[in-house]
Amino acid sequence: MDYKIIDFQKHGDDRGMLVALEEEKEIPFKIKRVYYMYDTLSGVRRGYHAHKKLKQILICIHGYCQIHLDNGDETIEITLDKPYQGLYIENNIWREMYNFSSDAVLMVLASEIYDEADYIRNYQDFLDFIGKKDKNE
Ligand code: TYD
Repeated sequence: MDYKIIDFQKHGDDRGMLVALEEEKEIPFKIKRVYYMYDTLSGVRRGYHAHKKLKQILICIHGYCQIHLDNGDETIEITLDKPYQGLYIENNIWREMYNFSSDAVLMVLASEIYDEADYIRNYQDFLDFIGKKDKNE
């Protein structure tokens, strides 16, 4: 599965903690867009898409949430609960986000600007796009 959990360097001292992220250093692409989700309602599951081209890093900078990844062969559940940890997700991976704590702030650094044409929002279309058969068939 084309994902990676990256522990960013923490610059801590007796005043507290700081994490610095630079494109093409800690972040393995040029950052074209930053967005974040907050006040996600209890029980909400969102995402339900893959990207044809876009790569991204998810950082739960406050609270916690869980991420479901699926590459058509296998799935994995990942908990993000550390502000110094990033989840790098390659293109062509189906993702769903769930179990948000009420105080969760999920920040996303993306390699592309927002483009609806880059989204695959139907799971069967995703399997077709990557040339896989449905596991349940
Ligand atoms: P949506 O794609 O439904 O979020 P998710 O797939 O993560 O559950 O996005 C919610 C709304 O925000 C939708 O109307 C599109 C808009 N949006 C932007 O305008 N720009 C962006 O960069 C993103 C990610 C979403």
